[in-house]
Amino acid sequence: MPGITVRPSEDDSAMPRMRSPALAARLKAELSAAIVSAVERYLDFAPPGAADRAAAAVGEFLALYPGRPVRDNKGGSGFNDSLWIFVVVRCLQPRLIVESGVFKGHTTWLLRQARPDAEIHCFDVNLTGRLVYRDRDAVLHEYDWMEAPFPGVDAQSSLAFFDDHINQAKRVREAHERGFRHLLFDDNFPVYNLYATGGPPVPTLDMILDDELRPGTEVCWTRKGKDYAYTYREEDAGPARELIARCHALPDLSPLTRYGTGSGLTVVKLVD
Ligand SMILES: C[S@@+](CC[C@H](N)C(=O)[O-])C[C@H]1O[C@@H](n2cnc3c(N)ncnc32)[C@H](O)[C@@H]1O
Repeated sequence: MPGITVRPSEDDSAMPRMRSPALAARLKAELSAAIVSAVERYLDFAPPGAADRAAAAVGEFLALYPGRPVRDNKGGSGFNDSLWIFVVVRCLQPRLIVESGVFKGHTTWLLRQARPDAEIHCFDVNLTGRLVYRDRDAVLHEYDWMEAPFPGVDAQSSLAFFDDHINQAKRVREAHERGFRHLLFDDNFPVYNLYATGGPPVPTLDMILDDELRPGTEVCWTRKGKDYAYTYREEDAGPARELIARCHALPDLSPLTRYGTGSGLTVVKLVD
């Protein structure tokens, strides 16, 4: 095309799709600023230096992401969520990570890149023919995480990541009972957005903490031409609410990157 010079990006850590180095650098700076600001607000319980680690993690992620083994992760995390997962793990520096919801293994790969020496346990009830990335050092379990014992969990250095579309109130109760205090959830949508994902993990964290949502409310929605309904129950949500000290949905990065919208990644700190 006349007047347009097309050349490959010279910087491996450039933003995908923005090929002008100076503009990619600007976008990267905007992204770093947004991430660092959210880390300072929401991850102040992380070990010291989290904001600096977050800023460094953005560049490291951009260099790693082009080499990701799962090229098509439709149904799993995309660029924006992957970046957040990488940053959160770099900030919290867990020594033990539990992942519930593996799918093709993309998020396992991210966890491993963010914490090469961590003990990682991956749970998924259906791995048949799906795994594209298999972490040779992670322990893979093809059943629900409640079927595995987790004795002696150190609250400060352990992280549970739930991307399994299971009731988030249940996961909060289970994680607390097993000694986890730092949690990361995907698919935490407000009650009025339940159509945003297939099989939403109801009640979501947002629903558990929603003052306007009355027990007994029947929520009805449509997704891909099918109708769904769910009745909100206090017996389910109430005990989990008591266990949540902090709950922060991480800012959706898509208004900055214009890549696919995020899917409600949320950090949670439980009461001691
Ligand atoms: C959205 S996918 C996970 C995506 C993956 N974390 C990623 O972003 O690449 C959800 C996965 O949860 C799994 N799943 C469903 N019930 C589960 C359970 N009780 N425990 C663990 N995983 C479960 C499904 O088999 C599916 O592979």
